[in-house]
Amino acid sequence: MIFANELSKAYTGERGSVRVLNAVSFEAAPGSVFTLLGPSGCGKTTTLRCIAGLEQPDAGEIRLGDRKVFSSREGIQLGAERRGLGMVFQSYAIWPHMTVGENVSYPLDGLKLGRAERDSRVQRALDLVGLAALVDRPAPNLSGGQQQRVALARALVAEPQILLLDEPLSNLDAKLRDQMRREIKRLQRRLGVTALFVTHDQEEALALSDTIALMNNGEVVEVGPPRQLYDAPMHRFTAGFLGLANFVPGTVVGEAGDGVVVETAFGRFAGKRRSGAAPAADLFFRPHKASLAADDRAGSLDVGTGTVAETIFLGETNDVLVERDGQRVRLRLPGRLPREGERLSFAVDPEFSLVFERSSAPPAA
Ligand SMILES: Nc1ncnc2c1ncn2[C@@H]1O[C@H](COP(=O)(O)OP(=O)(O)OP(=O)(O)O)[C@@H](O)[C@H]1O
Ligand SMILES: [Mg+2]
Repeated sequence: MIFANELSKAYTGERGSVRVLNAVSFEAAPGSVFTLLGPSGCGKTTTLRCIAGLEQPDAGEIRLGDRKVFSSREGIQLGAERRGLGMVFQSYAIWPHMTVGENVSYPLDGLKLGRAERDSRVQRALDLVGLAALVDRPAPNLSGGQQQRVALARALVAEPQILLLDEPLSNLDAKLRDQMRREIKRLQRRLGVTALFVTHDQEEALALSDTIALMNNGEVVEVGPPRQLYDAPMHRFTAGFLGLANFVPGTVVGEAGDGVVVETAFGRFAGKRRSGAAPAADLFFRPHKASLAADDRAGSLDVGTGTVAETIFLGETNDVLVERDGQRVRLRLPGRLPREGERLSFAVDPEFSLVFERSSAPPAA
């Protein structure tokens, strides 16, 4: 388990002090992949480095399993080498003057192991990542994906309970990234390690994580399983950051079941209300939660009508921008490609519609 409680950190520079972590708290369950996701500069790496012991928070507490490794109140700060973690960084930091085997065995230096034990551990770690045959190869003679695997083997060689991964796949091309993503997940499950994973790539976070903590401006905005954050976000920032989103300005005009009805330029829609949404509000739905509706349904609840402004054929589906009174929504409609200028009605699944506080930010479409 990784437990972070109210971690805060500020950097002091020429222009005064900048707060980069603001009371960051989370709990990563044993054997799970817990991901810190968020825009560039939001504090993901800083958080990870605090957990690793490479950075000292100004305040807060960190526990790894049942060990307290940092506490500002109790004056505890355990060094990185004593935290028993495996780490993989964005730049794999493979040493070019060493062979693959020497790179991987490096973290064992401090452990006073016998030669045989050391060799067998290196062999095991390289087996795990499918590189056993390359043990004597000079490190520079490796492809990007192979270097990435060496970095992973090095992180695993001391058999840590906890693995920290900071954007480990961002230097790889799309295909290799996809492959390594699966391999890391498989390996993590097989070894039962707890992985703290950092990425700014939402697709990667959705694919790999058991739990995602979405960060913004040095704070944790929302924590939950990928599906929950994607389908039922509590916060507007989450809704807008993960996946494609429509935010349609409207007014709350009534109740509907356990939700509210919002009047927009396109029509009236029901949705679940999030805090602060009244009476000025934004209706949120994802483009693929809309479907084509028959003309005679225009004007009924959860059906919108407008003019097709732009269409893009995407193969499996079409990307369609529908316009009305200067507002635009984006729809993903499989099947027939609508004509530009055509009048079109669409139905939105109220199960996945949310009503957020009105924001002054421009609409996503
Ligand atoms: N040593 C430092 N001195 C001053 N400011 C720093 C230092 N390290 C990081 N920062 C600032 O702290 C903030 C958070 O940085 P951090 O590296 O944690 O972001 P990140 O979420 O990992 O971003 P990215 O996705 O770009 O890697 C940034 O604004 C960064 O400029
Ligand atoms: Mg970073």
